[in-house]
Amino acid sequence: MKELLEKQTLSFRFTEEQEMLRKTVREISEENFKEKAREIDKTHRFPRENFELLAKLGMTGLTLPEQYGGGGMDCISYAILIEEIARVCATTSVIIAVHLSLCSMPIAKFGSDFLKDKYLKKLAKGEILGAYCLSETGSGSDAANMLTRATEKGDFYILNGTKAWITNGSEADLYIVFAQTNPELKHKGITAFLVEKNMSGVSFGKLEDKLGIRASATCQVRLDNVKVPKENILGNVGDGFKIAMMTLDRGRIGIASQAIGIAQGSYDLAVSYAKERDAFGQKIINFQAIQFMLVEIATEIEAGRLLIYQAANRYDQGLDFTKHSAIAKLFCSELATKAANKAVQILGGYGYTTEYDAERFYRDAKITEIYEGTSEIQRIVIAKNIIKELTENIDK
Ligand code: CAA
Repeated sequence: MKELLEKQTLSFRFTEEQEMLRKTVREISEENFKEKAREIDKTHRFPRENFELLAKLGMTGLTLPEQYGGGGMDCISYAILIEEIARVCATTSVIIAVHLSLCSMPIAKFGSDFLKDKYLKKLAKGEILGAYCLSETGSGSDAANMLTRATEKGDFYILNGTKAWITNGSEADLYIVFAQTNPELKHKGITAFLVEKNMSGVSFGKLEDKLGIRASATCQVRLDNVKVPKENILGNVGDGFKIAMMTLDRGRIGIASQAIGIAQGSYDLAVSYAKERDAFGQKIINFQAIQFMLVEIATEIEAGRLLIYQAANRYDQGLDFTKHSAIAKLFCSELATKAANKAVQILGGYGYTTEYDAERFYRDAKITEIYEGTSEIQRIVIAKNIIKELTENIDK
């Protein structure tokens, strides 16, 4: 009976390993990424040394199988990693999120032993950086409607097309590229390929001049008759769309975590400012107008975190989590924008200048409502899953 009760009880406690991870990542982020965040935002310089430091600490392979040099940790740990980095530097958090969750994890899940041996060990150690190429200028939300083509030729496929808004674009070494191998089959004709940067015919567009996360090397990845060996196909021919969707399901937990990190960073800054700032003869934190703004954000951060951990926990348990990750991303990304907006408001004139981080949080937050599926796409995913549950009478 006791055993049964223990099994049924929801645990709101982190494991010792997870606690330790949060402490470590918070310390290294505060020490190494915080000050630099402002500089890289201004200059657009890709912070390669941040990635290298994360690699040295084993974070670039945190959730990858130990057999391939990874840390074998769970998805909650992944959420902690991304949140703690994003709390001080959203750019660095998306670099590692794309590397680990969008490029490395699908190789671990769908890759052949050959692909795992060839690429996963290097990805885990951070010897190479990964990227994920799905979007095109004409197909962002409508991901299946891509123009990139892959044509079979002997032992190879020849890839042609242009992928757009690729995080880690010109900096990565390895790309998962989704291409149409049989247009008549629509989404069922899409195939995922592993493309190396040094393959002939791979080139890059100019760096995008973005509102936020300005140093993540976002650019087009162009494929001009790139000859990719068949052994570099991830999964089977025609599996690409499902691989893309399943990868994004998990990726969205990362973006929700990035968003909660930005919200927490904004909140922490607003609190520390409100404790110091005098107005009308007292510290502004004493005013109810300020307290109410802070309380609203603090409450929603708690709620958002629980949504993230619920989605991550379902992933870790092998349960269906598509709806839950979309809910977490939708809620947390809209919260990030709101929290950063409130932080700017509380800092007033200072919040509107680059003297403080509030304006950067405000600019960085917005992308979380756009990439890895806009808020509108999350609503579609949630609605589709609710309808499916109703139809199949599933209780979730
Ligand atoms: N898991 C597994 N299979 C899935 C799935 C999922 N989560 N979602 C859909 N599928 C399957 C369906 O079951 C269906 O399979 P069958 O044909 O066998 O029945 C198939 O995929 C097609 O499904 P839909 O009819 O639902 O597909 P759709 O074309 O209507 O698109 C969509 C659905 C949800 C809108 C999808 O296109 C989508 O998620 N779009 C957003 C794309 C996106 O998030 N892009 C972000 C770019 S990546 C990025 O931002 C990276 C970065 O740099 C940070």
